[in-house]
Amino acid sequence: MLVALLPGDGIGPEVIAEAKRVLDALAIDGLTFEEGLVGGAAYKAVGHPLPERTLELAKRADAILFGAVGDPDCDNLERALRPEQAILGLRKELTLFSNLRPAKMFAELADASALRPEVARAIDLVIVRELNGDVYFGEKGMRFTASGLREGYDIMSYNEDEVKRIAHSAFRTARARRGKLCSVDKANVLETSQLWRDVVIEVSAEYPDVTLSHMYVDNAAMQLVRNPGQFDVIVTGNLFGDILSDQASMCVGSIGMLASASLDANGKGLYEPIHGSAPDIAGQGKANPLATVLSAAMMLRYSLGLAEAADRIEAAVAKALAGGARGPDLGGTMSTREMGDAVLAVL
Ligand code: NAD
Ligand code: IPM
Ligand code: MN
Repeated sequence: MLVALLPGDGIGPEVIAEAKRVLDALAIDGLTFEEGLVGGAAYKAVGHPLPERTLELAKRADAILFGAVGDPDCDNLERALRPEQAILGLRKELTLFSNLRPAKMFAELADASALRPEVARAIDLVIVRELNGDVYFGEKGMRFTASGLREGYDIMSYNEDEVKRIAHSAFRTARARRGKLCSVDKANVLETSQLWRDVVIEVSAEYPDVTLSHMYVDNAAMQLVRNPGQFDVIVTGNLFGDILSDQASMCVGSIGMLASASLDANGKGLYEPIHGSAPDIAGQGKANPLATVLSAAMMLRYSLGLAEAADRIEAAVAKALAGGARGPDLGGTMSTREMGDAVLAVL
């Protein structure tokens, strides 16, 4: 079983290093690793954020463990050469359309949440974010209006097949949990969302055991901090899912805690923390590696059929937190390496 390791930029290499140590400590028979260049690091080394070799490695691997991409040095490059195109390109090229972003409160972290502990304690939800469509991948550009003003545009669209496949993914996820699915859209304003809602309702006929509800995205943002315990599974489009998942992360304590799986139709996946390259803390040993460690656990569970090893990692993270492991993002002082050590010590 081959894992492609793509550390990327900023804190990416720092958090991937800790996840790799945890995977190594499990000494899993037949698990091998190959590292690839991605993001700004790849652009600086070979002139492209997603080099052909890296794409080939990602396709050949059984699973991909990804750090983060994004480098302020590259923010003024033409869009096709910016680091972010690497993750967008991997998601699209490998048809990783279903992005699972679980947010569960570790009991020990209730005091680190941005919410009151009694509100935060109830959080156990998964955001199923569509990852291959929406305003991310529509036609975009800069043009001039008739009166000569510069105008930027990005077309938002979903076709029914794209909505159908993510709906099935979400209903199956809900079925395996508490059987509640909330579809988040903006159908009161957007045609894209009206189609989304219509198709989700059509698909729901195949899942009579799942209770479906609908919510507008502005209300969902509010409900996530008012009463996050009401949610089991949320399914939403690419842009809304991006925003709501960063928000959910602070509800459970830190963006450094949220892992994700991006899956294709056959269970092949890319695993990454939901956060970015965090240039403001890169190179300082301040990054929380747990989101990446938990992403590695998701990888073992979803793509490599190693549920027991995944359980071990998740239990070790819980135990490390219970033992007081906290970096600056959680109100503590431990470094990235010390957080990794804390997990290894109880593994
Ligand atoms: P970010 O997620 O990188 O950082 C936002 C804030 O959260 C920063 O203050 C950062 O220090 C903090 N933070 C993030 N991860 C942390 C961790 N593990 N531990 C402790 N604190 C953490 O988002 P941003 O600042 O908006 O973006 C920075 C760069 O990352 C941009 O270039 C952006 O495009 C890119 N980005 C990449 C991905 C990805 O690779 N999938 C995701 C998000 C952002
Ligand atoms: C994420 C990031 C990416 C996204 C960016 C870096 C393209 O924010 O993975 O959440 O918007 O999907
Ligand atoms: Mn994001």
